[in-house]
Amino acid sequence: METFHPEVLIREEDIALKVQELGAMITKDFEGQDLVVICILKGAFLFCSDLIRQINLPVSVEFMSLSSYGDGTVSSGEVKVNLDCTGSITGKNVLIVEDIVDSGLTMKFLKSSLLQRKPKSLKLASLLHKSVKTIHETEIDYLAFEIEDKFVVGYGLDYAGRYRELPYIGILNAGH
Ligand code: IMP
Ligand code: MG
Repeated sequence: METFHPEVLIREEDIALKVQELGAMITKDFEGQDLVVICILKGAFLFCSDLIRQINLPVSVEFMSLSSYGDGTVSSGEVKVNLDCTGSITGKNVLIVEDIVDSGLTMKFLKSSLLQRKPKSLKLASLLHKSVKTIHETEIDYLAFEIEDKFVVGYGLDYAGRYRELPYIGILNAGH
């Protein structure tokens, strides 16, 4: 087994603090209302599970799986829905929870497709954003961290299916 550890970019304790902050903001913004959280698999599973525990509102959770990437580090330019949510979002407050907005293609596609289902509101929370890579402008309502153009792994994010279990966000250097 390989024992390579990606270089730490964002520490576990800094992620926890930021998630707490975002949870408090979301709680305040939706005060007195219900929220449907759509966790985008697989990358957002840890962020989403931590975030919902910091949201003090009646929350229901849905899961969707989308792919715009193959197993490499370069976007294929297409979005595929591998798994759709099962519950109706019509007339509901919806919060998409995503791991990273890179070119913006995935979230732009998802938002326009979910808007056709007529939610009461549609917001986006993302753990990470690489603004230098933006091609498709998409508003992120709740962003944890802006990062530079490096391929990152950990805290849910993978490279070819690996490193999701790391408690921190790390940089994957070429060759690993
Ligand atoms: P976009 O459609 O170009 O915005 O791509 C977003 C998707 O690409 C994310 O949901 C991730 O699955 C993947 N992705 C982009 N950058 C990274 C990275 O640095 N590490 C891991 N996955 C990434
Ligand atoms: Mg993703």
